[in-house]
Amino acid sequence: MQISIETIKEIVCYGGMAPSGDNLQPWHFVWHPKQSLIQLFFVPGRGNSFFDVNNYAPYVALGAVIENIAIAASHFGLEPEINYFPERENNLLIANIYLSWTKGERDPLYEYIPKRCVNRKPYYKYWPVPIYVKEALRREVARFPGVKLHWVDDSKLIFRLAKLVWKADWIRFEMQSLHEDLHKKLRFTKEEKEQTRDGLAVDTLEVGKLGEWFLKFTRPWSRMQALNRLGMSKIASLQTFLLMYSAPIACLVTTERSENTDFLTGGRAIQRIFLRATKHRLAIQPITVLTLFILRLLKRNGEGFSPQHLSLIRQLYADFKEIFSQNSFSEAGGLIMLFRLGYAPPPTSSALRRKVEDILTIKRD
Ligand SMILES: Cc1cc2nc3c(=O)[nH]c(=O)nc-3n(C[C@H](O)[C@H](O)[C@H](O)COP(=O)(O)O)c2cc1C
Repeated sequence: MQISIETIKEIVCYGGMAPSGDNLQPWHFVWHPKQSLIQLFFVPGRGNSFFDVNNYAPYVALGAVIENIAIAASHFGLEPEINYFPERENNLLIANIYLSWTKGERDPLYEYIPKRCVNRKPYYKYWPVPIYVKEALRREVARFPGVKLHWVDDSKLIFRLAKLVWKADWIRFEMQSLHEDLHKKLRFTKEEKEQTRDGLAVDTLEVGKLGEWFLKFTRPWSRMQALNRLGMSKIASLQTFLLMYSAPIACLVTTERSENTDFLTGGRAIQRIFLRATKHRLAIQPITVLTLFILRLLKRNGEGFSPQHLSLIRQLYADFKEIFSQNSFSEAGGLIMLFRLGYAPPPTSSALRRKVEDILTIKRD
């Protein structure tokens, strides 16, 4: 039986609901009906420049897309056969996903794909995450060999971690390239948000009217630079400290190795954690500036940082390793994602996605 275009559109639409750095959605899909094949491509122009050390961050997002596709396919009675990087020389072709009919089980996480979204509000610090939920998250990760989930729920350690993510954010506010890059992706108005259907809509950032005004005011780098001389980078980044400190749990997902495929597998695991957390009504927010800076330090010798920033990142990394040391953190491995987890009021608004017609090409061959 042929797979209908409507079914493919639905599966691709669910694939495109994956999280991505600054909501850039760096993906495109091509459907080949004769081979029952979805090809998933990486669109580098939708990457995140400085933060995309060796494309690791987009690979995590693309891994999440693959997991969504696998879950959505199962809902329609289809089984995916997934080949990562099927063409040796072509690292833009992320995966060939062949679909075939099956009588296998439907994945129960399907209904949580459209419900999942990042929640950037403060969390209820004293509402702990129950053990059975932690176990459920561990089981999701255990499906992916080589992927590990570590967590910190000791309040003193979370305080230390919050200081690290705060300092990493100072650096971010002090770098012209990152400042300008962020501003290209901010969407201030409803019209802008709906027209582009990508980027960071300010109403999802939970920064309030004052924060919105601050973002607008500091758009020209010269203003931000002048304010930084008065210590603004340290004040503006305090929000990250408070958000991390408000969480009852901070989680880190790592992989044993750091091949490109490990970041895809890590992204698949992340997506299952996010969906499972959504099922249990938990809020989640990735906090990735620190880990992406550490990846730049480890995999690119810290290229692009000023000497002062580099020396601070080395200190942050030393402390980060101490915080996660009991979990045998490995330098050769991949840092997939740091995120906070907890109970919280619902987010004010959620991000949009590009329409399926804009992310899917249907081949007639
Ligand atoms: C690799 C990666 C890194 C991310 N880093 C952050 C982050 O540091 N802070 C944050 O608030 N969200 C982060 N996000 C979440 C995205 O901003 C979010 O997925 C996107 O804006 C779309 O929103 P939604 O997931 O709520 O639909 C990250 C997502 C990915 C895949």
